[in-house]
Amino acid sequence: MISKAMVDIINKQINNEMYSAYLYMAMSADASSKGLNGFAKWFMVQYHEEMLHALKFYNYLLDQGAEVHLQTIKEPPKTFASARDMFEKTLEHERFVTKSINEIADLAQKEQDHATYTFIQWYVTEQIEEEKNDTEILQRLKLAGDTGPGLFMLDAALGARTVTVQTDFSAGVPITAGA
Ligand code: FEO
Repeated sequence: MISKAMVDIINKQINNEMYSAYLYMAMSADASSKGLNGFAKWFMVQYHEEMLHALKFYNYLLDQGAEVHLQTIKEPPKTFASARDMFEKTLEHERFVTKSINEIADLAQKEQDHATYTFIQWYVTEQIEEEKNDTEILQRLKLAGDTGPGLFMLDAALGARTVTVQTDFSAGVPITAGA
């Protein structure tokens, strides 16, 4: 049995992850409209990863016999100044997500909630990977430039990303599921 405070913070995190999916979907749409189809694909792959993150929390609450409380998802920006702007905002957002994951880990430690502490470790590790990927792409964008042949090559490279996570949640998400 997990505490009310833990149920509340995990429900809030489901919303954070759903907003992440929404944000990357918005970036994907804007990248498409700018002719950046590789960026659009990269962000849509990320959308799937965020949905997995959200559903993994959702199933954890159900496994714990706790109540899922789905809350309003705020509207993401409609347009972005450039590909570089998208990744600057992505990295900034992922740093926020890392902070919110750490708050869950802190609460689990404080409450000696070993189950949640073990569960949240997957996200702690995942956030290292996410921030690293975003930082690397941002570095490449700074090197290649935000226009012209450099951007064209980077668009092709990002378009090679494929979905590797579970995308069918109809039978639940196992506690061990991961990206
Ligand atoms: Fe679910 Fe990108 O953090």
